[in-house]
Amino acid sequence: MIHRKSREDIKRMRHAGHIVALVHQEMKKVVEPGISTKELDDIAFRVIKANRAIPTFLGYHGYPASICTSINEQVVHGIPSEKDILKEGDIIAIDIGATYGGFVGDSAWSYAVGKISPEKERLMKTTEEALFAGIKQMRAGNVLDDISSAIEAVANREKLGIVRQYGGHGVGRNMHEDPFLFNYKTGDNTLIKSGYVIAIEPMLNLGGDDVEVMSDEWTVCTKDKQPSAHFEHTVLATEDEPVLMTTLME
Ligand code: MF3
Ligand code: CO
Repeated sequence: MIHRKSREDIKRMRHAGHIVALVHQEMKKVVEPGISTKELDDIAFRVIKANRAIPTFLGYHGYPASICTSINEQVVHGIPSEKDILKEGDIIAIDIGATYGGFVGDSAWSYAVGKISPEKERLMKTTEEALFAGIKQMRAGNVLDDISSAIEAVANREKLGIVRQYGGHGVGRNMHEDPFLFNYKTGDNTLIKSGYVIAIEPMLNLGGDDVEVMSDEWTVCTKDKQPSAHFEHTVLATEDEPVLMTTLME
């Protein structure tokens, strides 16, 4: 069942999303060669708590941190560690969730560590472009496949791999709600209604589509060890333009 959010729900989600955006703002400042992903996690935890919110990921199915930090060939769900120290040329996807007033904001962004290769640059630019192409389709009267197709078209144009085992999802009181949203065309003609909120999150690879879960049972990597990028926003559908929940509020 897909929940339609009330005005009051949306206010709270907007606040949760603002807090997630505040954390991203901090991440952007501190991502540089030499910092460990554990330090990033500590900063995220502190910003979330300082804003009277709850780190949504912490303890979720036993997940041990407040954010996911996925470096280079890691696709999603990388676990922060003091052993993982960023170095020049890395790309890192940071996924952040915050719960405020009982509602969740969920957003991921990929960051360059210092100077990166043109191929990694293209991967990141294209994945961000795919996210916004998907977001554009998030409006009442469209179907889920409009979002998926738009994402796939951008990925195909740049001949990037599309991660198939993971995708977007409804979000609200719970981080993962109906519907599931594929990042490629499936023919899903589920109608989008105003008040639906979906986390749209393309994960694209420089190499092939295939991914595998590592022995820590969380970290997902590309099978061919080529880099992967991930961009995600929590988005509200209305009769009019889509509304981003996970940006800074003025
Ligand atoms: N934002 C991620 C997603 O949409 C959730 C992280 S999984 C967790 O799937 F277990 F770390 F919380
Ligand atoms: Co998500």
